[in-house]
This record gives sequence, C-alpha cells and structure tokens, in this order.
Amino acid sequence: MDQITGENMVQELILSNKHYKKADKLESLNMFKGQLYETIVTTQSNEHIKNAAPIGVICKDSNHVVIHLDNCVHTHLNIMENGELIVNITKNPLIFTHSTLGELDDECFDEFNGFPMIKDSLGFFKAHVIKTIEKKRENDYNDGKGNVVTCEVEDIYISETHEVIPLNRAMNAVIESLVYYCRFDHKYKEKQDMIWTHMKELNRVCQKVGNEKEKRSMKLILDKLKENHEYLE
Ligand SMILES: Cc1cc2nc3c(=O)[nH]c(=O)nc-3n(C[C@H](O)[C@H](O)[C@H](O)COP(=O)(O)O)c2cc1C
Repeated sequence: MDQITGENMVQELILSNKHYKKADKLESLNMFKGQLYETIVTTQSNEHIKNAAPIGVICKDSNHVVIHLDNCVHTHLNIMENGELIVNITKNPLIFTHSTLGELDDECFDEFNGFPMIKDSLGFFKAHVIKTIEKKRENDYNDGKGNVVTCEVEDIYISETHEVIPLNRAMNAVIESLVYYCRFDHKYKEKQDMIWTHMKELNRVCQKVGNEKEKRSMKLILDKLKENHEYLE
C-alpha cells in the first residue's frame, strides 16, 4: 500500500516498499542540460486509464524537459488531454520491452498522488506541460501531426538505496563501436562494409545524444579505423 511519511509529508516517500527522498533539481537524477535520456513516461486519460511508453526526454535545465511526441499514440493523446505525466527512470529491460510491444501489466504500476508511475522506478518526477509546438511527424498517425512539448518539473523523488543513472544511448554506442573496432580485421573481415555502416549510425546517435566525452570517444574510434583502412569514408 502507498504511504507518505516524513516531517511535512513529502520529504520521504515509500511506494511498494521502496524508499524515495525528495529532490529539487534534475541533476539529482543525474540528468544534465542538453542530454537526451531514455525513460518510461506514464500518463493517464481523463477517464483514469493508465499508460506507459518509452520516451526520450531532453533535459533543458534543472526544472524543464522537452519531449517529442511523434511516434506514440496513447502517451500523445493523454498528454494533449490533460498535460500531466510522470517521467520514470528505470533500467529494467522488460519494462521497456513490454511497454513498446504492447501494454504493461497492472502490477507494474504504482501511484504517486493518484497518478500512475512505474513500481520499478529508481527515481521519477511529475511534470506538466507549459508549451506545445506542432511538428510534422514522419508517420501518419494523428493526421501526420506531432508535438514538441516543453514541461515544467514538479516533484522529484530519487531512490534512497540505488544510484540513479538514467539510460542514454551514447555510452552503449561507444561500447558497441569499441567491440566492432577490436573485431574489425578478423571476425568481421568479410563484412566490414556492413559493420562500418552500422558504426556510422552509432556515431550519428552518439553525436546527437551524447556528452562531450562520449562524442570525443566515438570520433577517436572512427578516425582510428579510417586511419587504418584508407578506403573507409
Ligand atoms: C527507447 C525508445 C524511445 C522512444 N522515444 C520516443 C519518443 O521520444 N517519442 C515518441 O513519440 N515515441 C518514442 N518511442 C516510441 C514509443 O514508445 C512507442 O511507439 C510506444 O509503443 C508508444 O506507446 P503508446 O501508444 O502507448 O503511447 C520510443 C521507443 C523506444 C523503444
């Protein structure tokens, strides 16, 4: 059962036996300005039908994020309907997978102040929309309309027992590229073209969502490979 304890009812939160402490900046969740993190966004319709979906969240400053709603249906409709969301930080691959391939089971959800959140969250924040810009989307759901939505962050809670590090695709891209680099001339000798194409895609992702160290690492890997294989471009 959900309960809120602590001096003023908000400093410590216990949900499904997980202890959270209140924070006031996104940096407490290890979310930093200009970076894009892969999160699970929970929303609900005005009829209280809950939903969860993986959504990339761009950190604008300590209390604002931007999300692009262009490839989701329920999340988009719910956010347009009532402007409320919870951004959940989790590393559970099954939460990402089930919420992409279908719907999450009821037992994966908990509630924070009557709003759905992910039970497994290492940290989360409630947010509300303060600005919406229409954008043309690449597919034709919702009459080809997407939205770029700026949100103000309200309550932030972080796990008292786990370090909260949100997922970001850049570090994975660096590690994958390093593995490709090590195997390029033997295991992958016969398929270097394909691997190089993939590495360029990993580089694109990394340059888009990575921090300075990740971007620099990726450039070093690609430059070194080009130096060793003049035909690569
Ligand atoms: C890692 C990951 C990140 C995603 N980021 C976004 C995003 O930023 N915006 C978006 O519209 N869809 C995004 N998607 C796609 C939606 O999560 C996916 O289409 C989901 O099934 C939508 O669920 P819904 O219709 O219940 O909202 C992402 C998917 C994954 C796997």
